[in-house]
Amino acid sequence: MQEAGSKEVTEAQIAVHWKEEEFVNPPTKFIAQANMADPSIFERFKEENFPECYREYADMLSWDSYWHTTLDTSNPPFWRWFVGGKLNASYNCVDRHLAKYRNKAAIIWVPEPENEADEVITYQELYARVNEFALVLKEFAGLKKGSRITFHLPMIPSLPISMLSAARLGIIHNEVFGGFSAKACAERMEDSKSYVLVTCDGYYRNGQLIDKKADADITVEEAKKLGINVEKVLVWRRYPGRYLSKSEMVEGRDYFIDYLMKKFRGKRVPPLSMDAEDPLFLMYTSGSTGRPKGCQHRTGGYLAYVAGTSKYVQDIHPEDVYWCFADIGWITGHSYIVYGPLAVAATTVMYEGVPMFPDAGRPWRIAERLGVNIFHTAPTTLRMLRKSGPMEPGKYGYHFKCMTTVGEPIEPEVWKWYYNIVGKGEAAITDTWWQTENGGFLCSTVPALLPMKPGSAGPGMPGIYPVIYDEEGKEVKAGLGKAGNICIRNPWPGMMQTIWGDHERFVRQYYSKYCKDVASKDWHAWPYFAGDGAVQASDGYYRILGRVDDVIKVAGHRLGTKELENAALTTEAISEAAAIALVDELRGHVPVIYASVKPSYTPSREIELEVIANIAKELGPIAKPKAVYLVPDLPKTRSGKIMRRVLASISNSEDYGDLTTLANPDIVETIRKMVQGDKGPTKK
Ligand code: PRX
Repeated sequence: MQEAGSKEVTEAQIAVHWKEEEFVNPPTKFIAQANMADPSIFERFKEENFPECYREYADMLSWDSYWHTTLDTSNPPFWRWFVGGKLNASYNCVDRHLAKYRNKAAIIWVPEPENEADEVITYQELYARVNEFALVLKEFAGLKKGSRITFHLPMIPSLPISMLSAARLGIIHNEVFGGFSAKACAERMEDSKSYVLVTCDGYYRNGQLIDKKADADITVEEAKKLGINVEKVLVWRRYPGRYLSKSEMVEGRDYFIDYLMKKFRGKRVPPLSMDAEDPLFLMYTSGSTGRPKGCQHRTGGYLAYVAGTSKYVQDIHPEDVYWCFADIGWITGHSYIVYGPLAVAATTVMYEGVPMFPDAGRPWRIAERLGVNIFHTAPTTLRMLRKSGPMEPGKYGYHFKCMTTVGEPIEPEVWKWYYNIVGKGEAAITDTWWQTENGGFLCSTVPALLPMKPGSAGPGMPGIYPVIYDEEGKEVKAGLGKAGNICIRNPWPGMMQTIWGDHERFVRQYYSKYCKDVASKDWHAWPYFAGDGAVQASDGYYRILGRVDDVIKVAGHRLGTKELENAALTTEAISEAAAIALVDELRGHVPVIYASVKPSYTPSREIELEVIANIAKELGPIAKPKAVYLVPDLPKTRSGKIMRRVLASISNSEDYGDLTTLANPDIVETIRKMVQGDKGPTKK
């Protein structure tokens, strides 16, 4: 923990956070219709009833054959769920709803250009398209159970169709967030040994038509450098029959999907019955090393967990129009745009573009037109909408019954705006804390049963037993006002199986820190270390304070400082670089780079711009730093470790604490002057 760059959760850090707020009760109208208004759920999911309590979630699914063991703990911490059970995720999200909901909208897609019509995909239509594309994957691309396939797709309906088509045949999908670079996509293809890339020609973002196919050409080149020969590039066209990209189709490698699908029109392929433990998908995320890790999610446990939480926390009924305003390229979208809502037969809304296009009223116009009654988004989006159009929601006649926030701590001020203005005082809010690794919510209120508290995620979910440990592994009790590392004491079905291809890293990253006995086969010995600081109030609610490792949340996206630094170092002139998180009013945090140049170079604006361009190229535009400071030297300990903590304090105008361990303490004042000007030393 004491490595350079790691952030300790200190009392001081808590002090900068908000105070405990008063409880707010959920509206009675909401409670009256809620899926889960029976307090015996807490009894049913208490520790004495673990792990069998999770049958309740699994029973929401249709199984081809029932499991014989709910939880197998014989190989810790590689827990196995619903062992012996067989099912298909695509069948559960599509086929089984046909009998009752054939003509109901499964997906409503809203294009960014406001004059373009929505695309409404019924369950029947989804069934047809999923079958046809699954046949393309099988017959044309030659993929089969266990093959990996990479998608680099934006928010167009082809993305969920591609996911469900792969899942139908047990092909493990690996969606790379559309905002990540072509190179990041290539690295993920290499790590997952994936030879087929699915992309699209173009899409709209902030009023611009983005050429996505051009990215695919770079991905193929970059993948080749890494030893991966991409055999096929399958291209969805945003308007079938019309090609939006300037990039040429490469013969024998690139194929239009609408063209390939014609051959399979009207054809069906039966869903493959999968073991509950067969992997469903990979989702790469940043950790504390430079190499992103492929979180491997299982079929049965994952689907059960997202179905259960969609029903009880998001309160989704099949009659609801549910809009999760997130990107399917991150876990929120996988779990709560695609798999969770479709498993419970909802109508799920997808929006192509950015919140503010063309103005801050856009989301509320969409909600009004489609009759959205459940809304789900991230604090960064709320901050942006609040700043630009604080009174916009009141102009539109939609009514939400419940709303969710996810991805970062939400400031009580923003929470209150969400509640009073967006929710018009009529909607319950769930603040859901969880991670890419977890599959679904870990802390949240069950909305009809527990009061809300602005800025607090709430208690552990039913069946999730959190604990806060200090650095020595001693429990930090509730109500002490002390922060520590939040952990989950028990396994749960939504938790990832492993890091793709790196079991050892999985154990080291999440379990080594607080494992009580490596020889134990009892789950009680293996708490899951989440990597977040938290504090628990005496009422049991958890307030999440942010990451304790080298991960930065930028507008809800997770970036590793090491990845940013490696990208900065691809600049010829740079010899050393350190990435830190600068607090930002709208985006939560933004990256800032401190770097030194090689002796033969002189710092210049050109070099700074080159660093910014290289980061965008290596990682994607979302990772662009807000500033690059070319400094004479970086502050280092005597053993040569860069003290990122000191740099972060300078950028954030905070006390930079004790400098006695530094080998070069004088550099700190020089850097401070460069960043803050001559306003005098940072307050001590
Ligand atoms: O720091 C926590 C923060 O987001 C991190 C996980 O990021 P990611 O894997 O991208 O998943 C985001 C969506 C599940 C966590 O370690 N985080 C997530 N939800 C919350 C949160 N911080 C505070 N409150 C939340 N509700």
